[in-house]
Amino acid sequence: MPSINVALIGYAFMGKAHSNAYRQVARFFSPRLTPRMKVLCGRTPSKVRAAAREYGWDETATDWEEVVNRKEIDLVDVATPGDSHAEIAIAAARAGKAVICEKPLANTVAEAERMLAAVGKAGVTHMICHNYRRAPAVMLAKQLIEEGQLGDIRHYRGTYLQDWVTDPRFPLVWRLDKKKAGSGALGDIAAHSIDLARFLVGEITEVAGDLKTFIKTRPLPDNPKKTGRVTVDDASTALVRFRNGAIGTIEATRMAPGRKNYNRFEINGSLGSLAFDLERMNELELYLESDTPRVRGFRRILVTESGHPYFKAWWPPGHIIGYEHTFIHTVYDLLEAMADGKVPRPNFKDGVRNQRVLAAIEKAAATRRWVTL
Ligand SMILES: NC(=O)c1ccc[n+]([C@@H]2O[C@H](COP(=O)([O-])OP(=O)(O)OC[C@H]3O[C@@H](n4cnc5c(N)ncnc54)[C@H](O)[C@@H]3O)[C@@H](O)[C@H]2O)c1
Repeated sequence: MPSINVALIGYAFMGKAHSNAYRQVARFFSPRLTPRMKVLCGRTPSKVRAAAREYGWDETATDWEEVVNRKEIDLVDVATPGDSHAEIAIAAARAGKAVICEKPLANTVAEAERMLAAVGKAGVTHMICHNYRRAPAVMLAKQLIEEGQLGDIRHYRGTYLQDWVTDPRFPLVWRLDKKKAGSGALGDIAAHSIDLARFLVGEITEVAGDLKTFIKTRPLPDNPKKTGRVTVDDASTALVRFRNGAIGTIEATRMAPGRKNYNRFEINGSLGSLAFDLERMNELELYLESDTPRVRGFRRILVTESGHPYFKAWWPPGHIIGYEHTFIHTVYDLLEAMADGKVPRPNFKDGVRNQRVLAAIEKAAATRRWVTL
Protein backbone atom coordinates (compact mmCIF):
# COMPACT_ATOMS: atom_id res chain seq x y z
CA MET A 1 0.00 0.00 0.00
CA PRO A 2 1.58 3.38 -0.94
CA SER A 3 2.06 5.66 2.04
CA ILE A 4 2.25 9.41 2.57
CA ASN A 5 4.32 11.23 5.18
CA VAL A 6 2.37 13.49 7.51
CA ALA A 7 3.60 16.49 9.52
CA LEU A 8 1.28 17.68 12.28
CA ILE A 9 1.72 21.17 13.73
CA GLY A 10 0.23 21.46 17.24
CA TYR A 11 0.07 18.60 19.71
CA ALA A 12 -2.60 19.48 22.27
CA PHE A 13 -6.37 18.93 22.00
CA MET A 14 -6.72 18.73 18.23
CA GLY A 15 -3.18 17.40 17.90
CA LYS A 16 -4.23 14.39 19.94
CA ALA A 17 -7.53 13.90 18.05
CA HIS A 18 -5.77 14.09 14.66
CA SER A 19 -2.93 11.80 15.79
CA ASN A 20 -5.48 9.20 16.86
CA ALA A 21 -7.14 9.47 13.45
CA TYR A 22 -3.87 8.86 11.55
CA ARG A 23 -3.07 5.95 13.86
CA GLN A 24 -6.45 4.25 13.51
CA VAL A 25 -7.62 4.96 9.98
CA ALA A 26 -5.84 2.11 8.19
CA ARG A 27 -6.76 -0.32 10.96
CA PHE A 28 -10.47 -0.01 10.24
CA PHE A 29 -10.79 1.43 6.73
CA SER A 30 -8.68 0.49 3.72
CA PRO A 31 -7.47 3.84 2.42
CA ARG A 32 -5.47 3.56 -0.80
CA LEU A 33 -2.83 5.76 0.82
CA THR A 34 -1.56 4.89 4.30
CA PRO A 35 -0.54 7.82 6.51
CA ARG A 36 2.90 7.60 8.06
CA MET A 37 3.11 9.69 11.24
CA LYS A 38 6.43 11.28 10.37
CA VAL A 39 6.89 14.44 12.41
CA LEU A 40 5.04 16.18 15.22
CA CYS A 41 5.82 19.89 15.65
CA GLY A 42 5.28 22.17 18.67
CA ARG A 43 7.11 24.99 20.40
CA THR A 44 8.41 23.33 23.57
CA PRO A 45 10.89 20.49 22.87
CA SER A 46 10.25 18.43 26.01
CA LYS A 47 6.45 18.65 25.65
CA VAL A 48 6.41 17.83 21.97
CA ARG A 49 8.72 14.85 22.58
CA ALA A 50 6.42 13.53 25.30
CA ALA A 51 3.38 13.98 23.04
CA ALA A 52 5.11 12.25 20.11
CA ARG A 53 5.93 9.25 22.30
CA GLU A 54 2.37 9.04 23.57
CA TYR A 55 0.69 9.47 20.17
CA GLY A 56 3.18 7.46 18.09
CA TRP A 57 5.06 9.96 15.87
CA ASP A 58 8.48 9.06 14.39
CA GLU A 59 10.15 12.42 15.00
CA THR A 60 9.64 15.81 16.64
CA ALA A 61 10.48 19.38 15.64
CA THR A 62 10.01 22.90 16.98
CA ASP A 63 10.31 24.93 13.77
CA TRP A 64 7.18 24.52 11.60
CA GLU A 65 8.77 26.41 8.71
CA GLU A 66 11.58 23.89 8.44
CA VAL A 67 9.09 21.03 8.74
CA VAL A 68 6.69 22.14 6.00
CA ASN A 69 9.64 22.54 3.62
CA ARG A 70 11.01 19.04 4.21
CA LYS A 71 11.18 17.10 0.97
CA GLU A 72 9.74 13.89 2.41
CA ILE A 73 6.56 15.50 3.81
CA ASP A 74 3.42 15.04 1.69
CA LEU A 75 0.66 16.33 3.98
CA VAL A 76 0.77 19.19 6.51
CA ASP A 77 -1.89 19.21 9.21
CA VAL A 78 -2.45 22.58 10.92
CA ALA A 79 -3.81 22.13 14.47
CA THR A 80 -2.62 25.37 16.07
CA PRO A 81 -4.63 28.44 17.21
CA GLY A 82 -6.15 30.55 14.43
CA ASP A 83 -3.49 33.28 14.37
CA SER A 84 -0.95 30.88 12.81
CA HIS A 85 -3.22 29.01 10.33
CA ALA A 86 -2.64 31.35 7.38
CA GLU A 87 1.14 31.52 7.71
CA ILE A 88 1.60 27.77 8.09
CA ALA A 89 -0.95 26.70 5.46
CA ILE A 90 0.34 29.16 2.86
CA ALA A 91 3.96 28.06 3.43
CA ALA A 92 2.90 24.40 3.15
CA ALA A 93 1.01 25.05 -0.09
CA ARG A 94 3.97 26.93 -1.55
CA ALA A 95 6.15 23.94 -0.70
CA GLY A 96 3.73 21.78 -2.71
CA LYS A 97 2.20 19.91 0.24
CA ALA A 98 -1.42 18.88 0.70
CA VAL A 99 -2.91 20.78 3.66
CA ILE A 100 -5.62 20.04 6.18
CA CYS A 101 -6.37 22.95 8.52
CA GLU A 102 -8.44 23.20 11.65
CA LYS A 103 -11.43 25.53 11.80
CA PRO A 104 -12.10 28.39 11.63
CA LEU A 105 -9.88 28.56 8.54
CA ALA A 106 -8.32 31.84 9.71
CA ASN A 107 -8.94 34.83 11.93
CA THR A 108 -10.10 37.14 9.12
CA VAL A 109 -11.72 36.84 5.70
CA ALA A 110 -8.61 38.37 4.08
CA GLU A 111 -6.36 35.68 5.59
CA ALA A 112 -8.77 32.92 4.56
CA GLU A 113 -8.86 34.26 1.00
CA ARG A 114 -5.05 34.31 0.85
CA MET A 115 -5.00 30.69 2.01
CA LEU A 116 -7.48 29.67 -0.68
CA ALA A 117 -5.47 31.53 -3.33
CA ALA A 118 -2.26 29.79 -2.18
CA VAL A 119 -3.63 26.24 -2.38
CA GLY A 120 -5.27 27.09 -5.71
CA LYS A 121 -2.03 28.46 -7.16
CA ALA A 122 -0.01 25.49 -5.92
CA GLY A 123 -2.63 22.99 -7.13
CA VAL A 124 -2.47 21.02 -3.87
CA THR A 125 -5.21 19.13 -2.02
CA HIS A 126 -6.84 21.12 0.78
CA MET A 127 -9.38 20.43 3.46
CA ILE A 128 -10.82 22.17 6.53
CA CYS A 129 -11.57 20.06 9.58
CA HIS A 130 -15.31 20.45 10.13
CA ASN A 131 -15.40 16.93 11.49
CA TYR A 132 -19.07 16.95 12.58
CA ARG A 133 -20.18 16.52 8.97
CA ARG A 134 -18.72 13.06 9.33
CA ALA A 135 -20.76 11.78 12.22
CA PRO A 136 -22.72 8.94 10.57
CA ALA A 137 -26.04 10.42 11.78
CA VAL A 138 -25.21 13.77 10.17
CA MET A 139 -24.29 12.05 6.88
CA LEU A 140 -27.58 10.15 7.06
CA ALA A 141 -29.41 13.45 7.58
CA LYS A 142 -27.67 14.75 4.44
CA GLN A 143 -28.78 11.67 2.45
CA LEU A 144 -32.40 12.02 3.60
CA ILE A 145 -32.50 15.73 2.70
CA GLU A 146 -30.91 15.07 -0.71
CA GLU A 147 -33.45 12.32 -1.42
CA GLY A 148 -36.19 14.89 -0.81
CA GLN A 149 -37.65 13.04 2.17
CA LEU A 150 -38.07 16.30 4.08
CA GLY A 151 -39.48 18.17 1.08
CA ASP A 152 -38.61 21.86 0.81
CA ILE A 153 -36.43 22.93 3.72
CA ARG A 154 -37.95 25.79 5.69
CA HIS A 155 -36.09 26.01 9.01
CA TYR A 156 -32.56 25.37 10.31
CA ARG A 157 -32.09 25.74 14.05
CA GLY A 158 -28.43 25.36 15.05
CA THR A 159 -27.53 25.51 18.73
CA TYR A 160 -24.01 24.97 20.04
CA LEU A 161 -23.81 25.36 23.80
CA GLN A 162 -20.88 24.90 26.20
CA ASP A 163 -20.26 26.10 29.75
CA TRP A 164 -16.51 26.21 30.32
CA VAL A 165 -16.13 29.98 30.83
CA THR A 166 -19.16 30.40 33.12
CA ASP A 167 -16.95 30.89 36.20
CA PRO A 168 -15.37 34.40 36.28
CA ARG A 169 -12.26 32.83 37.83
CA PHE A 170 -11.62 30.87 34.64
CA PRO A 171 -8.35 32.30 33.21
CA LEU A 172 -7.75 34.40 30.14
CA VAL A 173 -6.66 31.54 27.83
CA TRP A 174 -5.86 32.07 24.11
CA ARG A 175 -9.45 31.33 23.11
CA LEU A 176 -10.51 34.56 24.89
CA ASP A 177 -7.94 36.69 23.03
CA LYS A 178 -9.10 38.13 19.69
CA LYS A 179 -5.53 38.36 18.37
CA LYS A 180 -5.06 34.62 18.77
CA ALA A 181 -8.58 33.27 18.24
CA GLY A 182 -10.19 35.82 15.90
CA SER A 183 -13.46 35.65 17.82
CA GLY A 184 -15.01 33.74 20.73
CA ALA A 185 -17.96 31.37 20.72
CA LEU A 186 -18.68 32.69 17.22
CA GLY A 187 -15.56 31.42 15.43
CA ASP A 188 -14.97 28.53 17.76
CA ILE A 189 -18.34 26.79 17.80
CA ALA A 190 -20.90 28.77 15.77
CA ALA A 191 -18.46 28.09 12.89
CA HIS A 192 -19.40 24.39 13.18
CA SER A 193 -23.14 25.20 13.18
CA ILE A 194 -22.61 27.39 10.11
CA ASP A 195 -20.77 24.56 8.38
CA LEU A 196 -23.58 22.12 9.19
CA ALA A 197 -26.14 24.66 7.95
CA ARG A 198 -24.26 25.09 4.65
CA PHE A 199 -23.78 21.32 4.32
CA LEU A 200 -27.39 20.36 5.02
CA VAL A 201 -29.45 23.34 3.87
CA GLY A 202 -27.34 25.49 1.53
CA GLU A 203 -25.63 28.85 1.20
CA ILE A 204 -26.41 31.60 3.69
CA THR A 205 -27.14 34.90 1.96
CA GLU A 206 -28.15 37.30 4.75
CA VAL A 207 -27.57 37.52 8.48
CA ALA A 208 -28.57 39.57 11.51
CA GLY A 209 -26.42 39.06 14.58
CA ASP A 210 -25.74 39.79 18.20
CA LEU A 211 -22.58 39.20 20.24
CA LYS A 212 -22.17 39.45 24.00
CA THR A 213 -19.22 39.36 26.38
CA PHE A 214 -20.66 38.78 29.84
CA ILE A 215 -17.38 38.69 31.76
CA LYS A 216 -15.04 41.41 30.56
CA THR A 217 -11.88 40.73 32.58
CA ARG A 218 -10.32 37.51 33.81
CA PRO A 219 -7.23 36.35 35.72
CA LEU A 220 -4.09 35.90 33.64
CA PRO A 221 -3.15 32.21 33.22
CA ASP A 222 0.43 32.72 34.50
CA ASN A 223 -0.36 35.28 37.18
CA PRO A 224 -3.87 34.84 38.65
CA LYS A 225 -3.45 37.91 40.88
CA LYS A 226 -3.53 40.11 37.77
CA THR A 227 -6.39 40.37 35.30
CA GLY A 228 -6.61 41.08 31.60
CA ARG A 229 -9.36 42.05 29.19
CA VAL A 230 -11.49 39.48 27.36
CA THR A 231 -11.51 40.63 23.73
CA VAL A 232 -13.94 38.11 22.22
CA ASP A 233 -17.62 37.25 22.56
CA ASP A 234 -18.82 34.77 25.17
CA ALA A 235 -21.99 34.20 23.18
CA SER A 236 -23.35 34.85 19.70
CA THR A 237 -26.78 34.64 18.13
CA ALA A 238 -27.77 35.07 14.52
CA LEU A 239 -30.81 35.02 12.29
CA VAL A 240 -29.93 33.67 8.85
CA ARG A 241 -31.58 33.48 5.46
CA PHE A 242 -30.61 30.83 2.94
CA ARG A 243 -30.45 31.11 -0.85
CA ASN A 244 -33.11 28.37 -1.19
CA GLY A 245 -35.66 30.33 0.82
CA ALA A 246 -35.14 28.61 4.19
CA ILE A 247 -34.65 30.71 7.32
CA GLY A 248 -32.69 29.83 10.43
CA THR A 249 -31.15 30.64 13.77
CA ILE A 250 -27.60 29.95 14.91
CA GLU A 251 -26.82 30.32 18.59
CA ALA A 252 -23.49 29.61 20.26
CA THR A 253 -22.38 30.19 23.83
CA ARG A 254 -19.75 29.09 26.29
CA MET A 255 -21.98 30.20 29.16
CA ALA A 256 -24.80 27.65 29.34
CA PRO A 257 -24.23 25.83 32.65
CA GLY A 258 -24.69 22.10 32.25
CA ARG A 259 -24.34 22.14 28.48
CA LYS A 260 -20.95 20.60 27.77
CA ASN A 261 -20.75 20.12 24.03
CA TYR A 262 -24.40 20.49 23.04
CA ASN A 263 -24.06 20.75 19.28
CA ARG A 264 -27.62 20.34 18.10
CA PHE A 265 -29.61 21.13 15.01
CA GLU A 266 -33.21 20.70 13.96
CA ILE A 267 -34.34 21.00 10.37
CA ASN A 268 -37.97 21.33 9.34
CA GLY A 269 -39.15 20.77 5.78
CA SER A 270 -42.53 20.65 4.06
CA LEU A 271 -42.68 16.85 4.47
CA GLY A 272 -40.88 16.21 7.72
CA SER A 273 -38.28 17.16 10.31
CA LEU A 274 -35.02 15.81 11.65
CA ALA A 275 -32.88 16.58 14.67
CA PHE A 276 -29.35 15.72 15.82
CA ASP A 277 -27.51 16.25 19.10
CA LEU A 278 -23.78 15.55 19.29
CA GLU A 279 -24.10 14.40 22.90
CA ARG A 280 -26.23 11.55 21.47
CA MET A 281 -24.28 11.34 18.27
CA ASN A 282 -25.28 7.81 17.25
CA GLU A 283 -28.93 8.84 16.97
CA LEU A 284 -30.96 10.80 14.45
CA GLU A 285 -34.51 11.89 15.17
CA LEU A 286 -36.81 11.80 12.16
CA TYR A 287 -40.46 12.73 11.67
CA LEU A 288 -42.20 12.10 8.34
CA GLU A 289 -45.63 13.45 7.43
CA SER A 290 -46.09 10.38 5.21
CA ASP A 291 -46.13 7.98 8.18
CA THR A 292 -49.47 6.40 9.12
CA PRO A 293 -51.19 9.07 11.25
CA ARG A 294 -52.07 6.65 14.09
CA VAL A 295 -48.37 5.91 14.79
CA ARG A 296 -46.84 9.08 13.40
CA GLY A 297 -44.25 10.76 15.62
CA PHE A 298 -40.54 11.43 15.93
CA ARG A 299 -38.61 8.18 15.64
CA ARG A 300 -35.11 7.68 17.01
CA ILE A 301 -32.89 6.01 14.42
CA LEU A 302 -29.85 4.30 15.91
CA VAL A 303 -27.37 5.08 13.15
CA THR A 304 -25.15 2.02 13.59
CA GLU A 305 -26.29 -0.35 10.82
CA SER A 306 -23.66 -1.54 8.36
CA GLY A 307 -25.54 0.29 5.60
CA HIS A 308 -25.25 3.60 7.44
CA PRO A 309 -22.45 6.01 6.45
CA TYR A 310 -18.97 4.83 7.59
CA PHE A 311 -20.43 2.04 9.74
CA LYS A 312 -19.31 -0.90 7.62
CA ALA A 313 -15.79 -0.28 8.97
CA TRP A 314 -16.86 -0.38 12.62
CA TRP A 315 -18.85 -2.68 14.84
CA PRO A 316 -22.07 -4.75 14.70
CA PRO A 317 -25.33 -2.73 14.92
CA GLY A 318 -25.86 -1.01 18.24
CA HIS A 319 -22.14 -0.99 19.12
CA ILE A 320 -21.80 2.75 19.17
CA ILE A 321 -18.93 5.05 18.16
CA GLY A 322 -17.74 8.40 19.56
CA TYR A 323 -16.25 11.85 19.05
CA GLU A 324 -12.85 10.63 17.88
CA HIS A 325 -14.40 8.66 15.03
CA THR A 326 -15.47 11.88 13.30
CA PHE A 327 -11.77 12.70 12.87
CA ILE A 328 -10.95 9.20 11.61
CA HIS A 329 -13.69 9.58 8.98
CA THR A 330 -12.34 13.01 8.04
CA VAL A 331 -8.81 11.64 7.56
CA TYR A 332 -10.15 8.64 5.61
CA ASP A 333 -12.00 10.90 3.17
CA LEU A 334 -8.95 13.14 2.84
CA LEU A 335 -6.69 10.17 2.02
CA GLU A 336 -9.16 8.84 -0.54
CA ALA A 337 -9.40 12.27 -2.16
CA MET A 338 -5.60 12.45 -2.31
CA ALA A 339 -5.50 9.00 -3.93
CA ASP A 340 -7.98 10.23 -6.54
CA GLY A 341 -6.14 13.55 -7.02
CA LYS A 342 -9.31 15.37 -5.97
CA VAL A 343 -10.09 18.09 -3.45
CA PRO A 344 -12.42 16.83 -0.69
CA ARG A 345 -15.21 18.79 1.01
CA PRO A 346 -15.26 20.80 3.12
CA ASN A 347 -12.17 22.53 1.73
CA PHE A 348 -10.63 26.00 1.88
CA LYS A 349 -13.43 27.33 -0.37
CA ASP A 350 -15.90 26.24 2.32
CA GLY A 351 -13.58 27.77 4.91
CA VAL A 352 -13.69 31.13 3.12
CA ARG A 353 -17.51 31.02 2.82
CA ASN A 354 -17.79 30.14 6.51
CA GLN A 355 -15.41 32.99 7.40
CA ARG A 356 -17.58 35.42 5.41
CA VAL A 357 -20.63 34.37 7.42
CA LEU A 358 -18.68 34.86 10.68
CA ALA A 359 -17.57 38.33 9.54
CA ALA A 360 -21.11 39.21 8.45
CA ILE A 361 -22.49 38.24 11.88
CA GLU A 362 -19.83 40.44 13.53
CA LYS A 363 -20.70 43.33 11.22
CA ALA A 364 -24.43 42.86 11.74
CA ALA A 365 -23.91 42.85 15.51
CA ALA A 366 -21.76 45.99 15.38
CA THR A 367 -24.13 47.91 13.11
CA ARG A 368 -27.40 46.40 14.39
CA ARG A 369 -28.47 45.79 10.78
CA TRP A 370 -28.98 42.84 8.44
CA VAL A 371 -25.87 42.14 6.35
CA THR A 372 -26.04 40.66 2.86
CA LEU A 373 -23.27 38.26 1.87
N1 LIG B 1 -12.66 20.45 14.86
C1 LIG B 1 -12.98 20.66 16.12
O1 LIG B 1 -13.99 20.18 16.62
C2 LIG B 1 -12.08 21.50 16.99
C3 LIG B 1 -12.09 21.38 18.39
C4 LIG B 1 -11.20 22.14 19.14
C5 LIG B 1 -10.35 23.03 18.50
N2 LIG B 1 -10.38 23.16 17.15
C6 LIG B 1 -9.46 24.09 16.46
O2 LIG B 1 -8.16 23.50 16.46
C7 LIG B 1 -7.15 24.52 16.56
C8 LIG B 1 -6.28 24.20 17.78
O3 LIG B 1 -7.11 24.15 18.92
P1 LIG B 1 -6.77 23.20 20.17
O4 LIG B 1 -8.02 23.06 20.93
O5 LIG B 1 -6.07 21.98 19.72
O6 LIG B 1 -5.78 24.15 20.94
P2 LIG B 1 -4.73 23.75 22.08
O7 LIG B 1 -4.44 24.99 22.82
O8 LIG B 1 -5.19 22.54 22.79
O9 LIG B 1 -3.44 23.36 21.19
C9 LIG B 1 -2.77 24.26 20.37
C10 LIG B 1 -1.44 23.66 19.96
O10 LIG B 1 -0.80 24.54 19.03
C11 LIG B 1 0.57 24.68 19.43
N3 LIG B 1 1.05 25.95 18.88
C12 LIG B 1 0.59 27.18 19.13
N4 LIG B 1 1.27 28.09 18.41
C13 LIG B 1 2.20 27.39 17.70
C14 LIG B 1 3.21 27.73 16.77
N5 LIG B 1 3.40 29.01 16.44
N6 LIG B 1 3.99 26.75 16.25
C15 LIG B 1 3.78 25.45 16.60
N7 LIG B 1 2.82 25.06 17.44
C16 LIG B 1 2.05 26.01 17.99
C17 LIG B 1 0.52 24.63 20.94
O11 LIG B 1 1.77 24.33 21.47
C18 LIG B 1 -0.48 23.47 21.13
O12 LIG B 1 0.17 22.23 20.96
C19 LIG B 1 -7.90 25.83 16.66
O13 LIG B 1 -7.99 26.40 15.36
C20 LIG B 1 -9.29 25.44 17.13
O14 LIG B 1 -10.31 26.33 16.75
C21 LIG B 1 -11.21 22.40 16.40
